[in-house]
Amino acid sequence: MKPLIIALALVLAAPLPAYAHPRTPRDLRQLAHQHGIKIGSAVDLAALRGEADYRKVLNREFSHVTAENAMKWESVEPERGVYTWADADALVENARRNNQRVRGHTLVWHNQLPAWLTTGVEDGSIDAAELRKILRDHITTQVRRYKGKIRAWDVVNEVVNDDGTMRQSIWLTHLGPGYIADAFRWAHRADPHAKLYINDYNLEWNASKIETTLSIVKDLQAQGAPIHGIGFQGHLGIQYDYPGDWANVMRRFADLGLEVAVTELDVRMELPVTPEKLATQADYYRRALTDCLGVRACREFTVWGFTDRHSWVPGWFPGQGAACLFDENLVPKPAYQALLGVKKA
Ligand code: G3I
Repeated sequence: MKPLIIALALVLAAPLPAYAHPRTPRDLRQLAHQHGIKIGSAVDLAALRGEADYRKVLNREFSHVTAENAMKWESVEPERGVYTWADADALVENARRNNQRVRGHTLVWHNQLPAWLTTGVEDGSIDAAELRKILRDHITTQVRRYKGKIRAWDVVNEVVNDDGTMRQSIWLTHLGPGYIADAFRWAHRADPHAKLYINDYNLEWNASKIETTLSIVKDLQAQGAPIHGIGFQGHLGIQYDYPGDWANVMRRFADLGLEVAVTELDVRMELPVTPEKLATQADYYRRALTDCLGVRACREFTVWGFTDRHSWVPGWFPGQGAACLFDENLVPKPAYQALLGVKKA
């Protein structure tokens, strides 16, 4: 009799499989758990340090985090060989204490580079051989520091133009296209367990960019360079159509054996906010999560900031904003409810 009771207790105690969860999850963490993915947010470190309500919502809702700016080159190595890790460390420590996985953003980019580097390249005091050594040392130092603490790195960010050509940057100009494979190899050597990604925007719909990025991936794979994932930033706007073929684009990369992630989702609108615009925004968020859940390789769904209080959009798109799941008072918007209502296909 006793073994039967124990068996019964075990069955009752076991969590119901994801598909058996009829009820709406209480928050995004539970939603993520139900669907077997990670739902994340970019984090503003000043807000994390200084705003208790921001911290509370971040740690309640999100099982994955990305540093919005704190892990970028200009933030961690403002002077050559002088590293300032405090903000990046604070994000990683907060994630450890709150059971969040971390995406490292970003090792190689054409933006937010420190002046000592861009000036040195411009005035020729840093030549190609030295630039390559500087890049290798930077990647090795940063990836090794967070070894075992970063689930995935955006190794290279935004390397393709919207017309499908390769983006001109100090890296391409002075090191040639091989810098991309080198960056993946150096990152892998520094942390063999981190998933290494190529990350870009407009990949959700831009055919030229999709084709070029697919060929970069195939080329890296042919060279044996350790690429593991593709990041779709997902900076959308309700004034534009929803990228209706996004799931198929995800599948084309998944068919190459890659993990897929939505890495920087937000859905901006022309201000002022209206109930109709919020409803369209909610629909775009719902469709983006549904697309991700429809692709088995899509493991992470990250928004680029969760509150309109801290969003890059108004600063970059004058007259636009309200792009996030929570308003500036951290009140959930219809988009938040729409996500909670997403059922597995
Ligand atoms: O740190 C300085 C501060 O010292 C100074 O007082 C202040 C005033 O100008 O500027 C601060 O730097 C700002 C930085 O964010 C940190 O807040 C820069 O001006 C500002 O341009 C920078 O914006 C970031 C932007 O990347 C830069 O390209 C946004 O916060 C960030 O959301 C955005 O994120 C990018 C992703 O990395 C890649 N994909 C697109 C995405 C949106 O552009």
